[in-house]
Order: sequence, then structure tokens, then C-alpha cells
Amino acid sequence: MTSMADTWGIHEAQFWLRGQAPEAPVRYDAEAGIWCVYGYQEVQHVLANPATFSSNTQRVVPQEMMEGADQFSEGNLIQMDALEHKKLRGLISHAFTPKVVADMEPRIAELTHELLDAVADGNRMELVNDLAYPLPVIVIAELLGVPASDRDKFREWGSALMEATQEFSFVDRTETQRKRLQDAMQQVAKLGDYLREHVEDRRRNPREDLITKLVQAEVDGERLSDNEVVNFSNVLLIAGHITTTMLLGNSILCLDSHPEWLARVRADRSMVPAAIEEALRYYSPFAGTARATTTETELGGERIPADSLVVTFLGVANRDPKVFTDPDTYDPTRDPNPHMAFGRGAHFCIGAPLARLEGRVALNILLDRFPHLRSDPDSSPVFLPSLSMTGLKELPLVF
Ligand code: HEM
Repeated sequence: MTSMADTWGIHEAQFWLRGQAPEAPVRYDAEAGIWCVYGYQEVQHVLANPATFSSNTQRVVPQEMMEGADQFSEGNLIQMDALEHKKLRGLISHAFTPKVVADMEPRIAELTHELLDAVADGNRMELVNDLAYPLPVIVIAELLGVPASDRDKFREWGSALMEATQEFSFVDRTETQRKRLQDAMQQVAKLGDYLREHVEDRRRNPREDLITKLVQAEVDGERLSDNEVVNFSNVLLIAGHITTTMLLGNSILCLDSHPEWLARVRADRSMVPAAIEEALRYYSPFAGTARATTTETELGGERIPADSLVVTFLGVANRDPKVFTDPDTYDPTRDPNPHMAFGRGAHFCIGAPLARLEGRVALNILLDRFPHLRSDPDSSPVFLPSLSMTGLKELPLVF
């Protein structure tokens, strides 16, 4: 059977999107040098046990490959464990509050309208380029307080980072691999240098923005260092826009390929949040997250040695038939829908409320403004050729 994913050239390794369930909940991929975790229960176990499955994955990557990586670890929440993580997350939560996110709603609506005004005179758009990429990147740039007009730079650095890490294998220690990692770090460093100027400026000239709030955040007399603010802002800029671009594209794609649901959601907008949640389950943007074992452990009937790299495939777990009835069916009325697209446990996505808000506002406006919106019959959507991300590079639409 040819699936939609085949037709649109999705990365062949993302077999779960091709209607092929993995044969075991845990499997060792010798070529990539990683333990792959596919089962919902097993993924949940990994994310709930940080003492065995550490977020500090750098410790299992050979030192010679990680030259220069230290400068980025301070403030990199995603890679931290236990108390260190709790302390930093607490400080950040002081600055990145639900109110800060909720207050963005009118601005998100205004930006969506502005971006759509630019294409509304024609009869077609390319969703990713015209809306799904620029909207989240402008929102996160404005939130942080860096000029949104620099977004082409973020895109350039972000794409170069994705390219450099795409073919990465943890067992292949060749010069090509080392170079790939060095290239990736160079891109992160460029973004870091750019952000450092803004952080240093906010210490001297506080403003009403997230960088200022992060610089000033204080819990129990503790504050963030410049390096921590730079690296955290770096994570926010990268994690905060690529994934949300995918959420928007994937949500439209799911509705477009299920016209009966599109009609129902159009007619009853209270279904918009559920349609987005189901798109997050069906095409999970963050396909997998990595952990490193601190000790030998057993999972899904396999014995995993200490110091192994473990990747929890959230997108696969979100289609586990043991938890989701008819997992390969897009069904916004699924209730409950305990998907793990935003992760689980201590590292649960800090940006989930913002991503959901952007999705809800943008989808409602698209439906309001374009009563005949549908995919372009003359061209096909294109998925990003990525193992770690599930999302679209192009989604041509006509209206
Ligand atoms: C963490 C997914 C949007 C910032 C995570 C994790 C996932 C995730 C799966 C957990 C990683 C792990 O356990 O190792 C997503 C998806 C998004 C999205 C699918 C959009 C649909 C955002 C946005 C922001 C953001 C908009 C920022 C504004 C973060 C940060 C963390 C994180 C800072 C690290 C939290 C921690 O380690 O404590 N995200 N994310 N994300 N996300 Fe998101």
C-alpha cells in the first residue's frame, strides 16, 4: 500500500508514518549506535526516571567529537539533570510565565493577519514560507526582544544546524562526523555571539522583554549568569520556532487530508484545540528525544549497558496501539489523547502553552479568511528529510 508519506517523500526511516508498527518496543540500532525506544510505556518509563536516563547526553559522546561543546552547556536546560535543572527551570519559569504567554495573543493575531495580507490578493500560498515559518520566529524574537527583522539570520543558522546534525551517527567517529559536529557547534556559536550582545545590553539598559526578565530573574538570591541567559535564549530561539512551524504545517495537512474533519472544525471552532492536539499526536514535530544511561538497566525485555545513548521516539510512542485505538487514524474527537509530543516529566516542554496558542490563533484566522482553503492539486507537500523532526518544508495551498 502506498501511504501519503511515501507519496510526499517523507524520510524513509520514519517507518511509523508508513503504517508499519515497530516489531519491538526497544531495539538497538547498531549502525547509529543508539538504543531506540518505541513503546509508549517504555518511553514514559525513560522520561520518568532521570536518575537512570540522564538528559546530559554529552557525557556519552566521545570527547574528541565534542571539542568546544562545553561553552554551550551552561544554561542549556534540555541537557541538565536533577537539582541543577530544577534551579534553572525555576528561574526561567519566573520570567516565562503563563501571563507573558497569554498577553501575546493579540500580537499573534495581528502578525498572522499581516502575513496573510501579503498573499491574500493572489489565489495561492506556500504555507511554510508565508506563515508557518515567519509567525513563530517573529513571536519568539519579539518575546526575547531581538529584532524580528534578523529572522533570515536565525533561519540560516537553524537550517545549517539541522543539516549538520542530520547524518550524525554516534558510532561513526570518522573525521566527517567530527566535522559535522564542529559545523553544528559553529552555527550555535554564531547565534550565541549575536544573543550575547543583546544580553550585555539589557544588563545596562533594561527593557520590557524576556531577555531583561531573564537577566533580572532571582530565586533565593540566585541569578542567571550572562552565559546561562545566552545559552537558554539560544535554546528558546531554536526550539521555539522550528517545532511550532511544524505544528502549524502538520495541523493544516491533517485537516486538508481529512476533508470531513476540516468541515466539522470549520463549522465548530471549539474543536480547533482538539484538532491541533491530534495533529501533534499524528505527526509529532519533535520525533525523538535523547537520554544517556547512568547504569546498566532493563527496558522492554532488553538489557541496556551503562553509558548508552537512548532515543525515545515520541512520534512512534504516540501511535502505540496499546494506548491509542486505531493509532494511524487522525481523529480529533479522541478522548483522552495522552500524546507525548511535548515530552513528559521534569523536561516537559516549557513552550507548550505558547505553541498551542499560536496554533489556535493562526488556524482560526486561516479558516476565517479562506473559506475554500485546500492543498494545491498541482504540487505536493514536502516533508523535511529529517529523522529527529517530523514536519513540512513546503505545503502549497490554493484558496
Ligand atoms: C522541551 C517539544 C515548542 C521551548 C521540549 C521537549 C519536547 C518539546 C518533546 C522535551 C525534551 C526532552 O525531554 O528532552 C516541543 C514541540 C513544540 C515545542 C512539539 C511545538 C509544537 C516550544 C516552544 C518553546 C519551547 C514554542 C519556547 C518558546 C522548550 C524548552 C524545553 C523544551 C526550553 C526544555 C525544557 C526542559 O528541559 O526543562 N519541547 N516544543 N518549545 N521546549 Fe519545546
